[in-house]
Amino acid sequence: MAKILELPGLSGKTVVITGAARGQGYAEALVLLASGARVIATDLAETCPATLANAAAKLPGELHYAQLDVTSETEWAALAKFLKKEFTQVHGLVNNAGIPFRGRIGEIARADWDSVIAINLTGSMLGIQAIAPLMRKGASIVNIGSSAGLNAHHTVAYTASKWALRGLTHVTATEFGPRGIRTNIVHPGYIETPMTATAPAVMRDAQLALTPLERTGQPEEVAAVVAFLLSDGAAYVNGAEIPVDGGFTSSAGVKYMSDIIKASQQKK
Ligand SMILES: NC(=O)c1ccc[n+]([C@@H]2O[C@H](COP(=O)([O-])OP(=O)(O)OC[C@H]3O[C@@H](n4cnc5c(N)ncnc54)[C@H](O)[C@@H]3O)[C@@H](O)[C@H]2O)c1
Repeated sequence: MAKILELPGLSGKTVVITGAARGQGYAEALVLLASGARVIATDLAETCPATLANAAAKLPGELHYAQLDVTSETEWAALAKFLKKEFTQVHGLVNNAGIPFRGRIGEIARADWDSVIAINLTGSMLGIQAIAPLMRKGASIVNIGSSAGLNAHHTVAYTASKWALRGLTHVTATEFGPRGIRTNIVHPGYIETPMTATAPAVMRDAQLALTPLERTGQPEEVAAVVAFLLSDGAAYVNGAEIPVDGGFTSSAGVKYMSDIIKASQQKK
């Protein structure tokens, strides 16, 4: 596990995170709690995972847990009602919940396409609709995209959902900018979480071969960037897309070509 960095200016701020039970959402909750924030961790399970509750007990921030399926408007409305009553306003929303579906165009069933779009895209839009009315000047929305949203990753529904999430991000940044609410999107590369633990080993190897830093990422490395975007340090950052991928998308596959050329030159 990478070091959890604490960020200034987040103490006492109320931040909602979706899909916070594990993986990157869990790491985002910890970095915010370490920074003294009030974290509203949400996920599908009815009760807060013991790992999260135990970790939170050692950190200065305040943890609340709520069961929330991001595709449910009713559950978003109930959460917004609770937040308004208890805390009046919300500083941050991290639309982190997401699912992969590793099917190609010829393989994906309509139901699987629909569920990926519902969770990865519609869930984020419903979250913004429900929580933005509780936000004031200085608030921040962070969507979790993917390097797949910047290229043609074969997982068609996942890739399409993350490209569309970029569109949602830019519309929200434009629409809410005049209210002083910022919206940005972070694009993780290959991060070691339960999601990637189910990916075929060859996929990990292929991504490593194309990543200039030549290693995978840790959830805490994504969480640190998310926390920065939530903080006042990012006060003038709105509508930005930030890859956290070891240079994978920046290199655009050219690392492969460069390595082959280097190897052939070394043989001479
Ligand atoms: N791990 C990576 O390499 C990687 C790369 C790029 C993007 N991402 C994105 O980062 C985000 C987090 O990924 P992760 O690797 O931590 O995944 P993960 O599978 O480890 O965790 C995802 C969490 O989302 C929750 N979730 C799933 N469906 C939900 C729903 N309908 N409502 C609420 N919660 C739901 C799960 O219960 C789980 O706790 C996702 O949006 C993912 O697409 C991950």
